[in-house]
Amino acid sequence: MLLSKSTTIPNPCRSRRRSLFSASPKRTSGAGSSSSSSSRRANVAVRAVISSDDKKSVAVATSSSSGQQQQQQQQMSSPPSAIDVTVVLTVRSRLKEKLLEKAKDRWEHFVTGIGQGILLQLVSNDVDHVTNSGKRSTEAAVRGWLPKPSSHPSIVEYAANFTVPYDFGQPGAIIITNLHDREFHLMDIVVHGFSDSPSFFHANSWIHSRLDSTERRVIFSNQAYLPSQTPEGLKALRKDVLVSHRGDGKGKREKFERVYDYDLYNDLGNPDKDVDLARPVLGGKERPYPRRCRTGRPPTKSDPSAESQVEKRHHVYVPRDENFEEIKQDTFSSGALRALLHNLIPALRAALSSSDRQFECFSDIDRLYKEGVLLKGETEKFMDGSILSSILSSLLTNVTSIGERLMKYDIPSIISRDRFSWLRDNEFARQTLAGVNPVSIERLREFPILSKLDPAVYGPPESAITKECLEQELNGMSLEEAIENHRLFIVDYHDLLLPFVKKINSLKGRKAYASRTIFFLTNAGILRPIVIELSLPPKTRSSGTRKRVYTHGHDATSFWIWKFAKAHVCSNDAGVHQLVNHWLRTHACMEPYIIASHRQLSSMHPIFKLLHPHMRYTMEINTLARQSLINGGGIIEKCFSPEKYSLEVSSAAYKNMWRFDMEALPADLIRRGMAVEDPTMPCGIKLVIEDYPYAADGLLVWSATEDWVKDYVNHFYPDAASVLSDAELQAWWDEIKNEGHRDKRDEPWWPALASKEDLVRILTTIIWTASGQHAAINFGQYPFGGYMPNRPTLMKRLIPQEDEPEEYQKFLLNPQYVFLSSVPSQLQATQVMAVQDTLSTHSPDEEYLGQVHESRSHWICDQKVLSLFENFSTRLEEIEETIKRRNKDPGLKNRSGAGVPPYELLLPTSGPGVTGRGIPNSISI
Ligand SMILES: [Fe+2]
Repeated sequence: MLLSKSTTIPNPCRSRRRSLFSASPKRTSGAGSSSSSSSRRANVAVRAVISSDDKKSVAVATSSSSGQQQQQQQQMSSPPSAIDVTVVLTVRSRLKEKLLEKAKDRWEHFVTGIGQGILLQLVSNDVDHVTNSGKRSTEAAVRGWLPKPSSHPSIVEYAANFTVPYDFGQPGAIIITNLHDREFHLMDIVVHGFSDSPSFFHANSWIHSRLDSTERRVIFSNQAYLPSQTPEGLKALRKDVLVSHRGDGKGKREKFERVYDYDLYNDLGNPDKDVDLARPVLGGKERPYPRRCRTGRPPTKSDPSAESQVEKRHHVYVPRDENFEEIKQDTFSSGALRALLHNLIPALRAALSSSDRQFECFSDIDRLYKEGVLLKGETEKFMDGSILSSILSSLLTNVTSIGERLMKYDIPSIISRDRFSWLRDNEFARQTLAGVNPVSIERLREFPILSKLDPAVYGPPESAITKECLEQELNGMSLEEAIENHRLFIVDYHDLLLPFVKKINSLKGRKAYASRTIFFLTNAGILRPIVIELSLPPKTRSSGTRKRVYTHGHDATSFWIWKFAKAHVCSNDAGVHQLVNHWLRTHACMEPYIIASHRQLSSMHPIFKLLHPHMRYTMEINTLARQSLINGGGIIEKCFSPEKYSLEVSSAAYKNMWRFDMEALPADLIRRGMAVEDPTMPCGIKLVIEDYPYAADGLLVWSATEDWVKDYVNHFYPDAASVLSDAELQAWWDEIKNEGHRDKRDEPWWPALASKEDLVRILTTIIWTASGQHAAINFGQYPFGGYMPNRPTLMKRLIPQEDEPEEYQKFLLNPQYVFLSSVPSQLQATQVMAVQDTLSTHSPDEEYLGQVHESRSHWICDQKVLSLFENFSTRLEEIEETIKRRNKDPGLKNRSGAGVPPYELLLPTSGPGVTGRGIPNSISI
C-alpha cells in the first residue's frame, strides 16, 4: 500500500496507537542531536508505559504544562530509579506459511507465550564508561502480543518489556537474536517509555535464525547521523555492521546472508552443459563491464574462470533483504518475470517450436491479438498455484478445453490508435524523440561523417553519405546551412556494431548491417529520415567497407527497399536499446551503486536513507536477468540480432561510450548536441528541438529531483569541508569508482566529490538513472515493440540486390513475403512480445517517484526533511499536469495529432499493468 502524494506523510516522530500506550510523545531532535541532551531528557522522564497485555502500573510522561509540573513534583518527592520500557515489534508473517503450513505455524509458539524465541537488547546512545561502549540493557524475550491491524492480516505485533536505569540515555539501536529455527521478516520496532518516545527503528529486514549464524542483528533508530555525529554509544556498532556487510570475499554465499560484494560477469555461460553455451567473462581490460553481486558459487568443471550455474527453479544468491520472494505483493514484478521465463516461455516453445514458421502475411500477426497462441498441456502444471495463475492471468486468458490455454496479447499502443503509422517515415522519425529509445539521436555537427574504427581493419573512415546525396533532401538548403542551423540529425550505430557484423552474419538466421540514419528537421518542425547508410565490413583486409546508401523513393520498388532499410535500422536500434541503453546503462550500472551503498554507508547515514528507495529489488531483478534473460542461450540471445555476441556488444558500448558524468540528463543532451548551454533556461540548457518529448519532460523530472537532492544535502552538510570529511561518503564514492566500475577507474572524467555541488550532481545522476531514465527506456517496450514489424529485434536477410538475380526476382514477385521472411519468426516474435509485456508491467504496489511506500513510512525522523520531501511530491504533481497539458498541445506534433499517442513515459504516476506511464523509484523490472 502506498501513501499517495496528496496524503500527509506520517510523522515518524509522532506516536501511533496512543490508545494502547499511555506515554505522550515528544518530538525528537533533528540531525546531530547530542547524546548528552537525550541523557538529560531521560532524567526527567518518569516510569512510563506498559504493554497492553499485563496492565502494570502506569506513570504518564506528558508534554502538557500540568503534566510537567506533576512530573517535577514526583521527581522532587521520589526520584525515579528506573525506566520501564516497552518495545513493540511489527512482524510480517510468511505467505507460504499462511497458505501451506498454517497448522504448523511456529509463530504461535511465542504468540502464546511459550517461547523465548526472540531476544532483544537495547543499546543506548550514551557510553557505559566501564565497557567503553554503548550502555546495554539486559536481554529480554519477546512475549506479549497486540491486536493485528485489520487491514493487514499477515502483520502481527509483539512486545517485550525492559527496565533500564534512569540514566540509561536514549536508545539508538536494538540488538536482536532469533532463537527460532526460521527467519522472520521484521518491519519495524517502536520503543515506548523514554522521554523522546516513541522511538522508531525502521527495519524492513529478514532476521536470520541463530541456527544459521550466531551473529546478532543490529537495527538502528530512524535518526539520521553523519558519521561524525554518531552518538558515542553507537560508533562501534555502526562500524561493525558495515564490516559485516562487506564479508570476507570468500566461499559460497548462503541465502540468509546479507553480504554485498563484487564479482565479474562470469556467470552468463554454461560450458558444462554445452560448449556452445560458453561465454567470455565480462569485466577486465579486454571486455570491461560494471561489477555484479558476488555469489561465490564454485567454478564450472570445464572452465575455471566461469561460475557454475544453478538450476532455473532455484534462486541465485542476493543479499537477503534484496529478495522478498515470500511476499506476493512486493514481488509481483520478479515473480511475474520468473513465472514467464521459467514456465510460460517453455510452454510457448513447446507449442510453436516444432512448426516454427515465419509469418506469411501481416494478418498472421494481427491474429496474435485476436485469436492468440494455443498452448497445450504444459500450462496446467504451473497454473495450479494461485500465485502463478494470478500473475500469468493477464497473458493467459482463456481455457479452451482441458489442457489447453490461449496466450493472447493486448493490442499495443503503436497500432491501437493508427493501424498503419509504423509504415510512415514521420512515425519512424518521431520514435527517435518520443519512442522507447529516445537517447540515440544526435545532432549532426561535422561533415563528412567519419568512423573512429581502425582503417586497417575496417577500411577508409569516410561515410558513403555524400554532400550531394544530402542536399537533394534539404529543400534547397545547403549542407553547411543545415548543419549550422541545427537541422540535421543522425542515429549512428556504425562504430558500435560494425566490429560485430561479420560474426553476426556467420550465425544461422542472422543478417545485419551497421547503420547510420540521417534526419532533416523541416521548416514545419517535423523530423524526416532522408538517408540510410548500411555497412558491411570489408571481405578482406585489403578490400574496402561495403557501404550502401538508401533514400526513400516514390515508386513501388524503392518504397519496399526503403522499408527494408528502415527495418534493418530498427533491428540495430532494438539491440542497442536493450543491450546498451536499457540493460547496461540502467540495470547493470546501478548494481555497483547499490553494493557500495550497503558496504560503505550505514543505514543511519542520511545519504543511505536518501538512496534506499531507489535501490529496491534491482539486485534481485538483475540476478534473474543474468539467470534467464541475458544468459547464454537466453531470450535476448535467441531473439536479438547479435545472438551469442549480445553481451559483448554491451561491453563494447561500456568500453567506448559509457561515462558517469554523461549519465546526467543535461550533460547527455549537450553531448549529443540535442541541447546547447543557455544559463537563462532551467537546468542551464536549451533544447535544439523543442518538441523532444523525452528530453522536455525528462528535464522537468531531473530538475525537481535535483532540487530535492540539493535541499536534502544542504540540510545535512553545512559546507564543502563536511563533505570531504565524511569518511563513509568518501569511501562510498571511491568504491563506486575503483571497485564497482573498476575497469573505468582510471578515466579522467569521474567527478570529484569535494563539494556539496559535486554530491548533488552525483546523487541526482544516480536517482535519475534508477527512476526517470529507466522508466523512459523500460515501460514503452510493449507499447512500441509489441507490434513486431515496428521494431523487429533481428533480421534474417540482407536487402535484396539486383546483382543477386534469383533473390531479387523473389522480392519483385512478392515483396511482402520476402519482408516477412526477413524478420523474427512466430516463435521469436511471440517470445519477445511476452517478455516485453511483462517488462512493461507495473506491480500493484509500485512505489513511484515522490511517494513513500507504507513499509517505509518511518524512514527518517526529521521534520525538516519530511517537509522538503512534501515539496518534491508537490512538484511532481505539478509536472504531471504540465505533461498532460503538453500532450494536448496541437503545436507539439511529436506527442499530439491524428493517431499520435501522447508521450506519457515520464508521467510520474501510474496504475498497475502495462500503462506506458509512471516513474517507479527503482529498477524493479
Ligand atoms: Fe528494466
